[in-house]
Amino acid sequence: MKSFVNINNKVKSFKKIITVDSDKSISIRSLIFASLSNGISKIKNLLESEDIFNTIASLKKLGVKIKKKKKIYFIYGVGINRFKYKEKLVIDAGNSGTLARLIFSILIKSPYKIKLIGDKSLSKRDFGRIITPLSKFGAKFYPKNKTTLPLMIKKFGNVKINKFSENKGSAQVKSAIMLAALHFENSTQIFARKSRNHTENFFKFLNIPIKIKKSKKFDNIKIKGVDKLKPFKYNVPSDISSSLFFIALTILTEKSELTIKNVNINFSRLGAIEILKKMGVKFIFKNKKIYNGEKISDIFVKTPKKIKSINCPSKINSRAIDEFLIIFLIAAKAKGTSFFKDLGELNQKESPRLKVGSNFLTMIGIKNYCTADSIKIIGNPNLQLNGNYIMKNFLKDHRVFMMSIIAALTLGGNWKIFDPESAKTSFPSFLKLIEKIGGNFQISKKL
Ligand code: S3P
Repeated sequence: MKSFVNINNKVKSFKKIITVDSDKSISIRSLIFASLSNGISKIKNLLESEDIFNTIASLKKLGVKIKKKKKIYFIYGVGINRFKYKEKLVIDAGNSGTLARLIFSILIKSPYKIKLIGDKSLSKRDFGRIITPLSKFGAKFYPKNKTTLPLMIKKFGNVKINKFSENKGSAQVKSAIMLAALHFENSTQIFARKSRNHTENFFKFLNIPIKIKKSKKFDNIKIKGVDKLKPFKYNVPSDISSSLFFIALTILTEKSELTIKNVNINFSRLGAIEILKKMGVKFIFKNKKIYNGEKISDIFVKTPKKIKSINCPSKINSRAIDEFLIIFLIAAKAKGTSFFKDLGELNQKESPRLKVGSNFLTMIGIKNYCTADSIKIIGNPNLQLNGNYIMKNFLKDHRVFMMSIIAALTLGGNWKIFDPESAKTSFPSFLKLIEKIGGNFQISKKL
């Protein structure tokens, strides 16, 4: 029988210092770039979650040796377009959209058909968004006209165009184009709506030719492929998206204070912090430094006096894209009506998060009006639950699970939250850290 987490008590006020797990986007990219380099790269503080284990397993299937010695991962890079594998290879990306989209982009010159599969959630997600650009680099996808996994890729022809535009604000699509471009000498130009820029930072860190002209909404990126990449040492910082669950726990618990150590504070990931500042939350950033071209800091937050509602400017969306579930939960306790728009992309995630978020708010008695790409939330600062609440059938979306735990620990009521193993996708220490902060829960094996 499926396991679930039982929560019947709110967390008591706390003052704590914690370290959350390492950044998922950066961990996946560090492994991919290391495997494309010519020599042994060393990665410290790699996130040890399911998405990363699937990345390691996929790269190993492509002939890359990866070993862990004393907390450091050694990646024996094979070079660009130098993977070694047999015909009829099947790669399993599990739950990870980032791994799936990026791995296709480094297989565009594959002489054999390689099949990519994923779990139930990933198999519902859109791959048309990368099939279109990668086909222009000369790759062919099978079966024809299908846009969901399982799919196969194989080199077919030559590059047809070298100018791309990316209009969704998807870092996965932008990064797929950039990694594909790395395989070609000629320059490639990408006119990309702003999104997280870790791939650009890796290009700079590894001295791969890149020029970026920034405008308000778009970045005009010009890159050139290279023959060889030098191996590197990398230290992965903690994940701002994982931090947000504990920031929310602090905001929604009386008289609490929290410091989170060594978090990546790349501007392209700080949308949720900007939104919460507008909602009346104060943050202090301490011990700022730079690791391998990425900004790092300790983040201090305390319970705000009151939470204000927000009419959220949609230009922030792509910088907060993984945090909206938790922002909706905070908006549920704000004074007034909050409005979030142009959020259709949220329904393209591990679960249709805009719909799931709206149903969740309805379940906890918060009036909301949801369309295909927007949500209006009527906040209730006095929200206090005392009924029974069950969260299940959310496609094991890790962020839905973790948001539900934060709700249960801050709003009251008796909760059963299914699929606790889903946190292992991005944040395996999540429940341990909840315990460290004083959260009480029981994990049961049966209903
Ligand atoms: C990611 C990009 C985002 C984000 C995902 C990680 C990345 O997806 O939601 O969790 O590492 O590039 P999209 O590019 O689809 O917006």
